[in-house]
Amino acid sequence: MSVLNDDFLWGGAVAAHQFEGGWKVGGKGISVADIMTAGSASENRTITDGVLDKKNYPNHEAIDFYHHYKQDIKLFAEMGFRCFRTSIAWTRIFPKGDEKQPNEEGLKFYDDLFDECLKYNIQPIVTLSHFELPYYLIEKYGGWRNRKMIDFFVNFADVCFKRYQNKVKYWMTFNEINNQTGYNNEFCLFTNSGIKVKSGENAEQVMYQAAHYELVASSIAVRHAHVINKGLQVGCMIAMVPLYPLDSKPANIMMAEKAMQKRYWFADVHVTGEYPTFMKAFLKKKGYTTDVTHDDLINLKKGTVDYLGFSYYMSKTIKATDDNPEYEYDDYKNDVQNPFLKVSEWGWSVDPEGLRYGMNWFNDRFHLPQFIVENGFGSRDVVENGEIHDNYRINYLRQHIIEMKKAVLEDGIDLLGYTPWSAIDIVSAGTGQMEKRYGFIYVDKDDEGKGTLARLRKDSFYWYKKVIESNGQELD
Ligand code: BG6
Repeated sequence: MSVLNDDFLWGGAVAAHQFEGGWKVGGKGISVADIMTAGSASENRTITDGVLDKKNYPNHEAIDFYHHYKQDIKLFAEMGFRCFRTSIAWTRIFPKGDEKQPNEEGLKFYDDLFDECLKYNIQPIVTLSHFELPYYLIEKYGGWRNRKMIDFFVNFADVCFKRYQNKVKYWMTFNEINNQTGYNNEFCLFTNSGIKVKSGENAEQVMYQAAHYELVASSIAVRHAHVINKGLQVGCMIAMVPLYPLDSKPANIMMAEKAMQKRYWFADVHVTGEYPTFMKAFLKKKGYTTDVTHDDLINLKKGTVDYLGFSYYMSKTIKATDDNPEYEYDDYKNDVQNPFLKVSEWGWSVDPEGLRYGMNWFNDRFHLPQFIVENGFGSRDVVENGEIHDNYRINYLRQHIIEMKKAVLEDGIDLLGYTPWSAIDIVSAGTGQMEKRYGFIYVDKDDEGKGTLARLRKDSFYWYKKVIESNGQELD
């Protein structure tokens, strides 16, 4: 039987704001994550007007990787990581975001971090914008509702490509750019695009304009990366949540198709450099994205991505409603429970086969190499005598790796690697909790911010080490 390539990139993933801490260290500026309080499984995080007294901002300290990075990377090496996906906190490099010159202390931090990885032959994989925009850019420019953001982002990207071109080969521009449509739209508009929706404003319209600027910025960054160094590979990062029809009723099938279009057109633009016809028709009908220039369209075409990075956690299931003849997808109205799937405490369905389905769906449409840059199971862990028996996490990952292997070995999909979320316990992006844990390494810290920050190897740590050692053969 065929096996995965020997250079398959096994590793783990995180994002700077969710684990670095050191929110004011080394000249770092305030990011959107720094003004978000902790929520819970049932209560959303609050976005405050700047940093307020007596509020719990979990990202400020996070797990203090900033001061523990040598110890943590050593643990990643012990697991056998061949790569490690993180992001570069924009506010460490440009504290406000609109400066011309970068902050050398911030640049130096990532030099040290990447060198430490390379010391163990761990390849850094880097996302440029992962929900950590400089807050100043929101206050002064309104975030991505402003075209000027394109220049600020491209400047940031250029500085990073030039500085780290010999240390980082694989890059991604915007994390889960498509998460701004559907699923708690206003929260994601803030975390992805730094947009505070004003009262009476059409959030969807604002999102389409912001996404257009982001896609243009991404395309310019891709083009620049290739000029700076031909060897750099720049991908997009899409949240793949397959949307299934509830059953074979034609209206449900059409509703699911329209929902998939609404969720994944971002990938069409990233990969083909053009808006797909259905999206042109939709935007025209709605009168959205009024600011699209001829140069934008040329840029999109010239800066198509090299690979398709994506996250996969779950699938969703869709049912049409009678009052919606145009099949405009609204997750609050159209999402229904899949009778065949169980859900986690946070309501996320567990659907390993959906990973293979999503990979095939991407492959049929785009014919590009893929990279699974997030996949994991958020769960509470219990420490018993210093041990964490997280069989639920092992089961989840095992089932997904089995489906991933089928996609590669039976469906012939070109897959660069697999970086489960998360390499180590970190702050949840959606809820701000520590107790929604994904890591192979337990971090002693709770939702109130209490704990010693000690690191403990979970059972999944030893299991994943064997998986990597055997190149995905040993999954028991
Ligand atoms: C992805 C994000 O949406 O899901 C991560 O890229 C995030 O930043 C991950 O942490 C898991 O979501 P959550 O809300 O459980 O942290």
